[in-house]
Parts: sequence; C-alpha cells; structure tokens
Amino acid sequence: MADFRSDTVTKPSPAMIEAMSAAQVGDDVYGDDPTVNALEKRVAEMFGKEAALFASTGSLTNQLAIRSLVKPGEELLTELTSHIVRAELGAGATFSGITTRTWEGARGSFKASEVMRIAAPDAGPYLVSTKAIAIENTHNFGGGYVQSFDEIKSLRKASSEVGISMHLDGARIWNAHVASGISLKDFGSQFDTISICFSKGLGAPVGSAVLSTAERIADSRIWRKRYGGGMRQIGFLAAAANFALDNNISRLAKDHEKAKAIAQACAAVSPELIDANGVETNIVALNLTGLNISAPELNSQLKDEGILASALGPNFLRLVTHLDINDLDMAKVLEVLPKLLKSALVAK
Ligand SMILES: Cc1ncc(COP(=O)(O)O)c(C=O)c1O
Repeated sequence: MADFRSDTVTKPSPAMIEAMSAAQVGDDVYGDDPTVNALEKRVAEMFGKEAALFASTGSLTNQLAIRSLVKPGEELLTELTSHIVRAELGAGATFSGITTRTWEGARGSFKASEVMRIAAPDAGPYLVSTKAIAIENTHNFGGGYVQSFDEIKSLRKASSEVGISMHLDGARIWNAHVASGISLKDFGSQFDTISICFSKGLGAPVGSAVLSTAERIADSRIWRKRYGGGMRQIGFLAAAANFALDNNISRLAKDHEKAKAIAQACAAVSPELIDANGVETNIVALNLTGLNISAPELNSQLKDEGILASALGPNFLRLVTHLDINDLDMAKVLEVLPKLLKSALVAK
C-alpha cells in the first residue's frame, strides 16, 4: 500500500532505531533523563524560548499551552477548522474550562485586523474576555497552508497591545520554516507558547514539546503529571526526536515537491479540484465538490488500487507526503489518481 493518509504513519528508520537504542536514560518524572533534558534545552534554544517540556502528543502540548494562557470561563480565539477546535475532542472545555470562538479563513488563514475585530480583550463582568489567540502553521485541514508572516507580526503587535497572548500550534512548523525560509527563532519571537511535534513530517514515532517561559513550563510540568502524562525512561523517545532534528528537517523540501507534483496532476484534470500553485508544503487537499463522486467513494477506489488517502468530509480528500513515500508510491499515485478523477469527471 502507498500510504498517503498522513505524515504520522512513518516508521522509524534503522538509523533512528539505532540512535534510540543508544540513548542514555533516567526517570524523567524525577528530571533524571539526560536525553530528555538535552532535547528540551535544544528545542527551547532553537525557537529562542526559555524552556521546553517533552510530552507524548501534540494534543497534550497544545492543551498544556492553552491552559497556561486562558483561565476557566475565559476565551481562546482560533480558526474554524483548526486542530485545537476540531480534532482535540473539546479538551479545552473539558480540562481547562475555557470557551472558544472561531473565525473562518480560506485554507485556515487569517487577517490580523479581522481577528482583532472579534477579539474582546476586556469584556467586563458580564461578557467573556478573550485571553489568547491560537494560530496553526502550517494549517492541516487548510491543505498545509503556510500562514503569512506579515499577518502573524501584525496580529502579535495588535494583540499584545491589549494583553492578549498568542499560541502557535506548530505541529508542522518545520514545513512552514522550510517552505518560507523564515527562521524558527523568528517564529518563536511572535508567540507566548509554542507546540511542536516530532512525530509528523520529522518521522519520529512519538513526541511533542511545549515551549514558553521557564515559569509557564514549570507549571506545565505539574499539569502534564496531573493529566497522567509523566513518563519515565523516555530518553529512548527523545533520542528519536533528536535524530529527527539532526536529519529530517531540510529533507521536508522533497515531501513538498512530491505534494506539488500530485496537486499539479490533479489540477491538470480539473483546476477546480485544487490550486496547485497554493500547495507549498506536504498536504494535498482535493475539493471534489464538482465531481460525481464523494470523497469516501474515491478513497475506496484508491484503496482497491493500493493507495491509502483520507476522506475528511463528503467532498474533501487529503493526501499527505512524508519520508516513507518512495518513487514507486509516487509513480502509482500519479498514474491512478488522475485516471480516477477523470472518470469521475466524465461520469458527471
Ligand atoms: C495541526 C495539528 N496540531 C496538533 C496535532 C495533534 O497531534 P497528536 O496527534 O500528536 O495529538 C495534529 C495531529 O495531526 C495536527 O495536525
């Protein structure tokens, strides 16, 4: 099977496994794991932050960050299709007692002025006050959209003037960094809290980190334990993350080229399926609205041909490239997907 469901499906390479098995470990709940401690220091420095905390998942690091910025009954603003509000199963409300309001942006984007128009920094005693804004970069359901850095800077300026914090869901910030050339430190300078993942395009089997001030991270360490997320000899996992940082960042450009090639092949069938020029990273989001086939139907036809993709809505089919996609997988998808799309177009 050529597996384009997500960049989370990768398996650790032999070299990564070797690095994992050579890791020095200790009990991380006691702060004794040297590999975890070194990884936390490393990623904090990469983004210009004081401290970092390694955790099991990106959902956990997003939630630890949000709870450090927004108190119960207060509000987080985010985009309508962001992972935080669509795919974390109401964790912000369930665990942190916060409310969320959303804006709708093409491909998950935003205009700073529009976000600030709905922000309510100090709504008084009868209305909900906005305490933080979360930006997803790249935006997953937005087809790997790279957020405009100018808009990020404008939003940072306007929101900080009225005491609103900013959180970055940077599960795929590595892809945004490679595609835009903007440094990780520049991204880091615009946000109070950052969540990063090692288990998406970077190819580690497990692991995320939350980055912020030393004070916030010390508090997040307590909350991670309270959520049952304190782990013991996890230097083995931190070693995989370190290996991924050493070897798998710049190669993301190859995943981006592959996604672009798939998008171009689909756009050649019908430009309404996707704007191939807008595919800058590793996610291909096809809009099947104009076709006489649903995303689940097309997905099952692809599966019959040995290709796995994700039907994320009735008309939304997503393919994601990653480090386990080889030339044969690419040849197969470039042959089969346009063929199936063409027949669906003709059937219409
Ligand atoms: C943008 C984004 N943020 C956060 C997450 C959560 O990561 P995890 O699956 O490790 O909880 C994901 C997962 O796909 C994601 O795409």
